[in-house]
Amino acid sequence: MTYQRLRVPRLAQLVLVIGGTYGGFWLIFDLWLGQPIPRSLMGMYMFFVVVGVLMVFTATEKSTGQLVGPIRALVEDPARRWLRNVVFTVVPALAALGVYLQMQPSDEPPLELRSIHPAPPSSVKIFGKRYDLMSLENPYRHLEKDDPEQFRELVAAGGEVYIRNCQYCHGDKLDGKGPYAQGLNPVPLNFQDIGTIAQLQESFLFWRIATGGPGLPKEATPWISSMPVWEDFLSEEQIWQVILYLYDYTGHRPRSWGHE
Ligand code: HEC
Repeated sequence: MTYQRLRVPRLAQLVLVIGGTYGGFWLIFDLWLGQPIPRSLMGMYMFFVVVGVLMVFTATEKSTGQLVGPIRALVEDPARRWLRNVVFTVVPALAALGVYLQMQPSDEPPLELRSIHPAPPSSVKIFGKRYDLMSLENPYRHLEKDDPEQFRELVAAGGEVYIRNCQYCHGDKLDGKGPYAQGLNPVPLNFQDIGTIAQLQESFLFWRIATGGPGLPKEATPWISSMPVWEDFLSEEQIWQVILYLYDYTGHRPRSWGHE
């Protein structure tokens, strides 16, 4: 008998299981591993969790009855009129509050609307020559293995190019926090972040550095990028050198098409 009385109601069990799974994901990924699950993915996980839990909880007629019983009582039982009125006022009010809070104006630029890494054109004209970006490679990259000493010299030359030309915006630590960065929108990119050069091929960087903001295709608008057109100021060699430097300093590896 005591066991019967202590039993957690089915509806509460359902909420506990679903809430517990959500909390579990959060504990493991957010707190423990420090790598939060993206919201959309979490939404998908939770969808399957809820569907699965509902299937188990409504497997028999009896368990379904136990689950819906309290809800039905709340809606139909004349004795619970008071509780019903409170629930039907408080729940919509909370939902409205949630929507209101999400709609608060913010000063943040709506970054999602602008494509930060637009698809590059398949071929581009740089320094008066046509380049096929799919096959273009850094002509110096092979020296990393073949002649490490010369490679270090080229990286150092790239560092020189960077400090003279790029750090004003992209920062002397390559973190996008140069002295001019504050006033620019879109902001100069942070190369330390794994969302920028670590995701890109060297040919993509070559195109972006040589043609700058004006070389961007339409989907990278509406804001006008202040990234200068470096083919007007640097040589082809200097651009490849500064690319070596960006990867060397940050410790990222350029993306390749699968062959090293
Ligand atoms: C006047 C400020 C300014 C200077 C100077 C500048 N940049 Fe930029 N750069 C930007 C801004 C702003 C962006 C982001 C908008 C965009 O993608 O065009 C950017 C983007 C880039 C990107 C694209 C990265 C990505 O993840 O898509 C690369 C690569 C880059 N800059 C390299 C350089 C290099 C190399 C130099 C020096 C030769 C340099 N920048 C100098 C402002 C600047």
